[in-house]
Amino acid sequence: MKITKICCIGAGYVGGPTMAVIAQKCPDIQVTVVDLNEARIAAWNDADVANIPIYEPGLDAIVAEARGRNLFFSTEVEKAIDEAQIIFISVNTPTKTYGKGKGMAADLKYIELCARQIARVAKDNKIVVEKSTLPVRTAEAIKSILDHTGNGVQFQILSNPEFLAEGTAVQDLLHPDRILIGGDSSEEGQKAIQALVGVYSNWVAADKILTTNVWSSELSKLTANAFLAQRISSINAMSELCEKTGADVNEVAKAIGMDSRIGPKFLKASVGFGGSCFQKDILNLVYIAKSYGLNEVADYWEQVIIMNDHQKRRFSNTIVQTLYNTVADKKITFLGWAFKKDTNDTRESAAIYVADALVNEQAQIAVYDPKVSEKKVLADLDYLETRTSAQNKACVASFEDPYLACKGAHAIAILTEWDEFKEYDWKKIYDSMQKPAFVFDGRNVLNAAEMKAIGFVYHAIGS
Ligand code: NAD
Ligand code: UDX
Repeated sequence: MKITKICCIGAGYVGGPTMAVIAQKCPDIQVTVVDLNEARIAAWNDADVANIPIYEPGLDAIVAEARGRNLFFSTEVEKAIDEAQIIFISVNTPTKTYGKGKGMAADLKYIELCARQIARVAKDNKIVVEKSTLPVRTAEAIKSILDHTGNGVQFQILSNPEFLAEGTAVQDLLHPDRILIGGDSSEEGQKAIQALVGVYSNWVAADKILTTNVWSSELSKLTANAFLAQRISSINAMSELCEKTGADVNEVAKAIGMDSRIGPKFLKASVGFGGSCFQKDILNLVYIAKSYGLNEVADYWEQVIIMNDHQKRRFSNTIVQTLYNTVADKKITFLGWAFKKDTNDTRESAAIYVADALVNEQAQIAVYDPKVSEKKVLADLDYLETRTSAQNKACVASFEDPYLACKGAHAIAILTEWDEFKEYDWKKIYDSMQKPAFVFDGRNVLNAAEMKAIGFVYHAIGS
C-alpha cells in the first residue's frame, strides 16, 4: 500500500517532533498532527518558529522546513482521522490518580477516547499505530473497541513505541538505534507492518527496523525504560556508599563503564532521575507484574523507584544538615528546574521534590532555569498540593538573571546539568553570597577543586 496521508493524535513531546521528522524525510506524505488543546496547536502554527511549544535543539528548523508543505497542525481531529491511511496515537498515558490502580497503573482514558473516535469516524480501512507507551496487551482493548463499530471497516493495530529522549529528540529521531514495529502475524497484519516499514525506510536502514509480535513490542518499551532507570538507581545507590567510604562515584562509573559488557552510558550519578517516562512506566510495569501475581518481579522493579525517591530526599536532607540544621528564612538558589538539560519539560523533575522539602523547612527558594518560566515552577509545586498556591508563591520566586538569583543566597543547588552553568563567573557569584557560601552540585557539573579554591563549601554527589 502506498502511504500518502498520515495523521497523529497528540501534538506533545512525542507527536510533535516525531511527525516533524517524518514530514521532513517523506515529502510525498501529508502529515497532520491533531490535538484537542487549541493553545498548543496555535503555538505549533505560530508564524515565528521560535514560539513552537516544545523546546528541542534543531526542531524549529525542521518545522520551518516542512510546515505548510506536508506538515500540518490542526484541531480538526475527525477530518484528519477520516483522511489518513495510518493513524498514530500519541496521547499522554499518565499514572492513574484515581480508582483501581491509583498511583501505579497507566491511565488509558485518553487512548480509549481516541479508539472510540477512530471507530466512529473511519469510513475505510485504517492502520492504527500505538505510539504512546502502553501496558502490554493494550492493543487487544483497542482492537475490541474498533471491531465493534459495525460499519465493516477493517483495522490493523501496530505497536511502534518511541525511544527518543527529550533534549536530543531530533538526533534520536534522525539516527535511531532501532525502530520497533509489532504487528499481527496474519497476512493483513504483515502488510500493515510493511506499510509502516516503508515510511521509516525513507531514512532508516533496513537492518535497524525490527519487527515483532505486538506484545513483545509493547513490553519492550516498558523493559527499555526499566533497564535505563535501573542503571541510574544502581549508580545512585553506589553514590551514597562512595560518600561514606572516600570512593568517588565518577571514578567508579568510569572504571566499570570501560567494561564492554557494562558500557559507559547512563552511569551518571545525580539528584535522581525525572521526566515523564521512567517513574510512570516502571510503576506501570510493577502494577502489571502484580496483576499476574508476580510479586517478586514487582518488588524487584519497584526498588528502582524507592532508590530514586531516596536519592531526592537525601539531597534535600544534606542541604538542611549542612546549613547547620536549619534553612528557615535562608535564600537557597536553584540553578535548573527542568528534569534534564536542553528541554523545557519539568515533569517529575527532581527539582520539584527538593524544593517542596526545603519549603517545608521554611526556606526561600530562588530559581533560575534558561527555559522554564516562574508560572511553570509554581504550577509544578501547586500540583503536589502540599500547600496553597499563595503559600508557594510566598516562598518561591524565579529570576531571569542567574547572578541576581544567586545574590545574597546562603546556598546554591544545581538541579539540572545546563551547559551554561559551567561557564559562569563563579568568583563573582561567590562574592555576592552569604558566607560560608555553599554549593550542592546535584549533577556533578562543576570542577570541585576550582570551586573550593574560590572559597565555596562544595558538595557533589558521590564524593
Ligand atoms: P504530552 O502530554 O506532551 O502530549 C500528549 C498530547 O495529547 C497533549 O497535547 C494532549 O492534549 C493530547 N491529547 C490527549 N487526548 C487527546 C485526544 N483524545 N484527542 C486529541 N489530543 C489528545 O505527552 P508526550 O510526552 O508526548 O507523551 C505521549 C506518549 O508518548 C506517552 O504515552 C508517553 O509515555 C510516550 N513517550 C514519551 C516520551 C517523552 O520523552 N516524552 C518518549 C517516549 C514515549
Ligand atoms: C527516557 C528514555 O531515555 C527514552 O528512551 C524514552 O523514550 C523516554 O524516557 P527522557 O526521560 O526524555 O527519556 O530522558 P533521559 O535522558 O532518559 O533522562 C531521564 C532522567 O534520568 C533525567 O532526569 C536525567 O537527568 C536522568 N539521568 C540520565 C541521570 O540521572 N543519569 C544518567 O546517567 C542518565
